[in-house]
Amino acid sequence: MSTVLSIPRSVSWNGDSISLLNQTKLPIEVEYKTLTTVQDVWESIVALEVRGAPAIGITAAFGLALAAKNYEAEDITEFLENLQTNRAYLASSRPTAVNLFWALDRVTASVDDTFTVEEAKQRVEQEALLIQEEDERVCRTIGEHALTLFQEGDSVLTICNAGSIATARYGTALAPFYLAKEKGMNLKVYASETRPVLQGARLTTWELQQAGVDVTLITDNMAANTIQTKGISAIIVGADRIVSNGDTANKIGTFGLAILAKYFNIPFYVAAPLSTFDPTLETGKDIIIEERNTEEVTHIQGVRTAPEGIGVYNPAFDVTPNELITAIITEQGILRGNYKEEIARLFE
Ligand code: MRU
Repeated sequence: MSTVLSIPRSVSWNGDSISLLNQTKLPIEVEYKTLTTVQDVWESIVALEVRGAPAIGITAAFGLALAAKNYEAEDITEFLENLQTNRAYLASSRPTAVNLFWALDRVTASVDDTFTVEEAKQRVEQEALLIQEEDERVCRTIGEHALTLFQEGDSVLTICNAGSIATARYGTALAPFYLAKEKGMNLKVYASETRPVLQGARLTTWELQQAGVDVTLITDNMAANTIQTKGISAIIVGADRIVSNGDTANKIGTFGLAILAKYFNIPFYVAAPLSTFDPTLETGKDIIIEERNTEEVTHIQGVRTAPEGIGVYNPAFDVTPNELITAIITEQGILRGNYKEEIARLFE
C-alpha cells in the first residue's frame, strides 16, 4: 500500500510571476514571496531564498520567462539580444551549481529556430515549465534507484538539503526516504546541521518531518561519533557539479563525510540528475567554488558569534574526489567503478 505524503514544493510559475518559498525564513516562518522581475529572481538566488542546484536552475529559467514576457522587442533579433543580456545577468548570481547554466542555456536554445517575438515568448515559458516537470520525474526516478541501495531499518546520514525544496519535488539525496515512506519501509535519517547557514537543521529536518520521515538532527562535528555509535550504514549527498572524472562539488563538509565513510568502511553515495553533470570539465580542480560573505560565519541568524574584524574563510562548497565515491545515482541508473568511462557513455 502506498501512502500520500506531504512533500513541500519551493517554486511555482503563475503565468506572470513566480511564487517562491523563502528558504531563509524556514522553519520559523513559511513565507511565499512573489517575484515579478528578473532582478527579484537574481536577488533571491544570491540571498539563498531559493537554493539547491536544480531549484536554482528552475527559478532562473522562470526568471528568463518573466523577463521575456515584458520585452517590447520589435523583432526576433532584438528579442534574442535581450534574452542573452538577461541570461548573462542571471548566470552571474552563483558560480558553482551547473544546473543554473544548464537551465539558462536550455531556455535560450529553445528559441533558436523561432521567427516571431510572440512565438519566442511562448517557447521560453514552455521550456521553463518543461524543465520543472522533467526535474520532478527525474528526482522520483533517482529515488527509485537509490532505494535499491538501502534495506529496511537502515540509518543513513546526509548533509545540507538535497530535498524536495532544492528541486522540483522529492529531491535527489532525500528522494529515497520519501519513496521508502510511501512504500511503508522504515529508514532512519541523520541530518547534519550544515554550518554556516544551516540547510540541514532548518530545511532537511523541516521537510522530512512534514512527510513523517524519521529524522534526527546532529551538529556537523558529531558526524564521526554518530556513524560509530548509531550504526550508520551509508552516507548519501546531493551535488552541485559532477565533472568528467566523477569528482563532485557539493556543500562544504561533504568531502569530510566522504573521508569518514572510507574510515568506517561504509558506502558514500552521490545522488544527482544529469543536469548536474558538467562533462566540459576534466577534474574537480576546474570547478569554481563560490566564496560567500563573512557574516555567514561570524553570525548565526543575524547574531554575532565571532569578534569584529576577525579574518574569515567561507567556501560554500568542497570537492569530493571520485575515489571516495562508492556510486553516483542518476535517473539513468547507478554509476560505479570507472566514472570517466561511465560518464562519457552517459553523454555520448
Ligand atoms: O548553497 P546551497 O544551499 O545552494 O547548496 C546546496 C547543496 O549543496 C545541495 O546539496 C546540492 O545543490 C544538491 S540539491 C538537490
